[in-house]
Amino acid sequence: MQVGIDQIGMYTPNKFVDMVDLAHARNEDPNKYLIGIGQRQMSVADETQDAVSMGINATLRYFDQIDKDKIGLLIFGTESGVDQSKSASLFVKSALGLKADVRTFEVKEACFGLTASLMTARDFVRVHPDQTAIVIGSDIARYGIGTPGEVTQGAGSVSLLVSSNPRILSLNNGHSAYSEDINDFWRPNNSKVAMVDGKYSTQVYLDFFEKTFTAYKEQKNWHTQDFAAIIYHLPFTKQGLKANRLAIKDQDSAVQDCLQKSFEASKWLSMRIGNIYTASLYLSLLSLLENDKMEPNSLIGLFSYGSGAMAEFFSGNLVDGYQKQLNPRVDQALLDRRHQLTVAEYEKIFTQALQDPANNVELESDEEVGVWYFAGLKDNIRQYRRVK
Ligand code: HMG
Repeated sequence: MQVGIDQIGMYTPNKFVDMVDLAHARNEDPNKYLIGIGQRQMSVADETQDAVSMGINATLRYFDQIDKDKIGLLIFGTESGVDQSKSASLFVKSALGLKADVRTFEVKEACFGLTASLMTARDFVRVHPDQTAIVIGSDIARYGIGTPGEVTQGAGSVSLLVSSNPRILSLNNGHSAYSEDINDFWRPNNSKVAMVDGKYSTQVYLDFFEKTFTAYKEQKNWHTQDFAAIIYHLPFTKQGLKANRLAIKDQDSAVQDCLQKSFEASKWLSMRIGNIYTASLYLSLLSLLENDKMEPNSLIGLFSYGSGAMAEFFSGNLVDGYQKQLNPRVDQALLDRRHQLTVAEYEKIFTQALQDPANNVELESDEEVGVWYFAGLKDNIRQYRRVK
């Protein structure tokens, strides 16, 4: 039985900062951000968008096309959680009106959280082939104003429907995992911004990529040339470019060209949205499928990395007709609708986001009709509403 990704929904907030503006404000050469880091824009979440609301909005992108009664599992992967106890998934379940017998919880391992959810969902559907699972990754990357990590911030969510006989990507059996207890990037409970050993993190990422990619090829007895595309967790697109260079070194030029071309296609959404942690790898997948013409049954390798650190390489085959499940024009419109912030406006939003929301605040969203947003606290309970 084939199990895999049947639907992909993406959401990003309605504001962004241009990297050239940010470079000027930070006295950097814009080419450092555009070429050296490989980012053009970053989405910015104001106080009305958080991990929960973005996760709901991403799922709504496909929700009216699926059979709600078949959903048996809902997992929410995030490192931007809104509560230390209650799962973000319960807010989503309520907003979507899912049945009471859905199993639902939140998972965390930095950017690996959505891959952990996807693998759990794959195994769940194998045991319950008549049921489906929704897995959501949703995050806001915050490092701080004027920090080296600032240019790698972002905000957004990707939601996947996992089912038997999937119509986008059929996941293959097996994976290669590798983990170590290290401190490359972390966010303690007393901090709203990430702490990072930046240069070290970029090295560990590449090291874990080589380990898991090599082990995976050995496990499957496959070779680099068997892959039509390899896609990556993209904290910033230059990081994926470096991993891809490692993947294609020593290959003949046809293989290099093919994997370089597919990498280029996979980076467009991340380049404009920024790092969305758990969901970043799946933004690469969506970007690849929307920007490259891939043959049915093409083998796609996926590299997932979560700081701390945990990495996994796995793969899937594209399903014939996968294009019918996608909506590139709507995704493009979602990016194009964003309002460009000045750096001063972005800094104001950023500073405000570091404050705790006051109790009994009624927040209004400037989102378009139908979008869910965080509407403030009532007796310390988070409220979510839909723009009418
Ligand atoms: P930095 O120290 O400011 O940058 O921070 P740099 O000096 O290393 O320069 C960056 C690149 O720009 C270099 O290229 C420069 O040569 C180039 P490279 O040597 O890397 O190829 N450059 C220029 N290029 C063209 N024209 C110019 C120019 N000037 C310089 N004029 C750093 C960079 C990534 C460290 C910082 O942004 C950071 O700390 N980011 C956050 C950490 C991060 O994203 N790490 C990635 C791996 S860890 C991960 O992926 C997990 C994560 O997503 C979290 C999770 O799992 O939850 C982060």
